[in-house]
Amino acid sequence: MILRKPMSGNHTFLVKNLQALTDFAEKFSGQLKPGDVVALIGTLGSGKTTFTQHLCKALRATSKVTSPTFTLINEYSAGVLTILHSDLYRLQETEIQNFLPELEARLENPNTITLVEWADKAPQLMYTWRLSFSLLPDNPDARNIHVSSC
Ligand SMILES: Nc1ncnc2c1ncn2[C@@H]1O[C@H](COP(=O)(O)OP(=O)(O)OP(=O)(O)O)[C@@H](O)[C@H]1O
Ligand SMILES: [Mg+2]
Repeated sequence: MILRKPMSGNHTFLVKNLQALTDFAEKFSGQLKPGDVVALIGTLGSGKTTFTQHLCKALRATSKVTSPTFTLINEYSAGVLTILHSDLYRLQETEIQNFLPELEARLENPNTITLVEWADKAPQLMYTWRLSFSLLPDNPDARNIHVSSC
């Protein structure tokens, strides 16, 4: 996997296993800047939460990253950065309408990086990155991650 160039534009990365995911998250963390909002797209079990765990580790977040499926937003500190980790899976359309103002208010805080699982359910949010995860039929440890800057 060659990730020396900035991840602008559109590119699909083959992430062969969890060690490769660590490397990918490390590289991607170097692309992020405060204010970024990252859409995480992909089916159940495609790796959105696992990627967030690896990204938070790369950003030196201090607390354990767990799925926000039921809490809706988890917050982690990483030095001067605040990482917001949200998950829209459980929400119906009207619930999303009610929830988004809270998320938007929190992501506007300075030095905040936001990750949103099931972001395709809220296309109206201003994403700066879109990461789309897909499983490979012949390798349960591998994922394709399509990265695009918005
Ligand atoms: N290369 C890989 N990248 C990501 N996850 C992987 C990889 N290989 C194996 N896995 C495993 O796949 C599972 C992914 O689960 P995870 O909870 O991250 O998915 P998710 O996309 O967040 O699902 P959900 O939509 O339910 O929130 C984990 O058990 C993880 O260890
Ligand atoms: Mg998840």
